[in-house]
Amino acid sequence: MKILGICGSLRKASLNMAALRACAELTPQGMTLEVASIADLPIFNQDVLDAGMPEPVKRLRGEIVAADGLLIASPEYNFSIPAPLKNAIDWASRPPNQAFQDKPIAIFSVTPGPVGGARVQYDLRRVLGQLWGHVLPRPEVFIGNAASKFDANGRIVDETTRKFLTDLLAGFKDWVVRMQPKK
Ligand SMILES: Cc1cc2nc3c(=O)[nH]c(=O)nc-3n(C[C@H](O)[C@H](O)[C@H](O)COP(=O)(O)O)c2cc1C
Repeated sequence: MKILGICGSLRKASLNMAALRACAELTPQGMTLEVASIADLPIFNQDVLDAGMPEPVKRLRGEIVAADGLLIASPEYNFSIPAPLKNAIDWASRPPNQAFQDKPIAIFSVTPGPVGGARVQYDLRRVLGQLWGHVLPRPEVFIGNAASKFDANGRIVDETTRKFLTDLLAGFKDWVVRMQPKK
């Protein structure tokens, strides 16, 4: 089972990226995780698309389509989806063959504040749901007060956080199997 990770933050020291990378070591047996890059996507512009899909967009769409599921880790920006992530979703959502159709998706969020990104997750569910992505309903994982949960190298130092992510990945594995089209 091949899972593609997508991070909503582009910054080098991103806590969300650190958590996403840590997930690669917490996956259940049979699941692998690779992290996509969305930093090189141009800002969506229909004129650019009409002139030919840019290579980084082609690459990302191919990676999403090839994956058995997506794991999205994102901060919350102004109570909603950070621009780089929304931009990636917009590029991948364009027909034909929009990339989120029937795709199992799990979401978690990491923020330095106490709320843990609850609002961005509900916006992501709304956006991805209308693209017929199948977003795992539970467990929900909001990692708030994140500064105390990662060390300077971005490693998880909090056992509860590690357990939340491990449980999310285990639940996601079942979800990916459950969402497979019936033969
Ligand atoms: C433009 C902007 C808006 C933000 N708005 C919120 C917000 O609404 N809620 C929140 O919890 N944190 C907010 N933050 C703080 C981010 O959660 C914080 O920068 C977080 O560490 C970013 O994630 P990263 O470590 O993965 O880069 C905002 C940060 C930026 C740059």
